[in-house]
Amino acid sequence: MMKTRITELFGIQYPIILPGMSWISVPELVAAVSNAGGLGVLATGPLSAAETRTSIRRIRELTGKPFGAGVTILMPGARDNAEVVIAEKVPVVVFSLGKDRKLFNRIHDYGGKVVCTVTTIKHAQAAVEAGADALSVVGYEAAGHGSPVSSLVLIPSIVDEMKVPVIATGGIGDARGLVAALSLGASAVSMGTRLSITKESPVHDNSKRLTLEHGMEDTLYSNRFDGLWCRVLKTPQAAKAIRRGMSLPRAFFASVKIARKLKMPWLKVMIGSLLQGGPGLLMKLAHFVIAVEAIEKITLNGDTKNGVQLTGQVQGIIHDIPTVSELMERIIREAREISGLMVRTLT
Ligand SMILES: Cc1cc2nc3c(=O)[nH]c(=O)nc-3n(C[C@H](O)[C@H](O)[C@H](O)COP(=O)(O)O)c2cc1C
Repeated sequence: MMKTRITELFGIQYPIILPGMSWISVPELVAAVSNAGGLGVLATGPLSAAETRTSIRRIRELTGKPFGAGVTILMPGARDNAEVVIAEKVPVVVFSLGKDRKLFNRIHDYGGKVVCTVTTIKHAQAAVEAGADALSVVGYEAAGHGSPVSSLVLIPSIVDEMKVPVIATGGIGDARGLVAALSLGASAVSMGTRLSITKESPVHDNSKRLTLEHGMEDTLYSNRFDGLWCRVLKTPQAAKAIRRGMSLPRAFFASVKIARKLKMPWLKVMIGSLLQGGPGLLMKLAHFVIAVEAIEKITLNGDTKNGVQLTGQVQGIIHDIPTVSELMERIIREAREISGLMVRTLT
């Protein structure tokens, strides 16, 4: 047992969280993390509303412990998934790329907790004003979307400004990272790359192997992959995707896919998006959809020729594929050893 503001808020044993990673944070991995004393968060991004409901119920079959669900507000279908998450009274809901005070209030009404994923102080303030109970603060090192600032500076800056507890996200892979994050003022850590390289993770073996083979310098960080600043594994395909960026013909192609995914007429999707956010939103969604396809190819299918893999700099200190419980036990044991050493060193 470790006691922090986050373990108290969520009712968990250890301040370790599995973020909602598309196709990876599935019920089996979510339950494995929650059963090991952390908090598993289901990724609802690629799921339909019906699949989200089935997944939540499957998690409840696999664990009696608290768990969460992620909602990426910007993505097509996300609001339908949010409705299911609320109807099912999921204990912790993690929002990224957007916030919605009304949804937050409805989660609070059934006793649920709201976490917002942020990368800047401005976003952190807006999230707290909208009612977030905690912030997942994503530093420069992270896989996927991160801050331009490294966690060593970003975490204490946001801790100093905000009253709600902070979850340090990005660059954490072992006990040293956990203890460092706690010393920076965070109340928990969220580990994406590390927990995706475990026995229970459904990431394809090819993709796990690539992560193990690459080092901390083997990533690319660009805003030309999916339109936001995003960290991916450095491969020829990733470099090509970044060079290509987004264009009007590709955006048109992607809009057809969005309409198919939403099972809506193409014209309705176009008009709806244009009314909601103008051409900018449409280009943003198109960029996202194309990137998501490239990520799915490698993560799920192991297609290393055409896929693009999200990965963090922390891959440089990941050398094995343990089970979730082996990893969590090791981190907790070593964190206690490090804290003993710190006490001896500092007194
Ligand atoms: C393979 C992989 C897939 C990911 N997919 C998503 C995703 O679908 N949605 C999301 O918000 N974050 C996603 N992330 C980012 C994580 O939520 C988290 O912010 C990041 O992994 C933290 O950095 P770390 O990898 O250094 O721990 C993904 C990360 C990885 C490694």
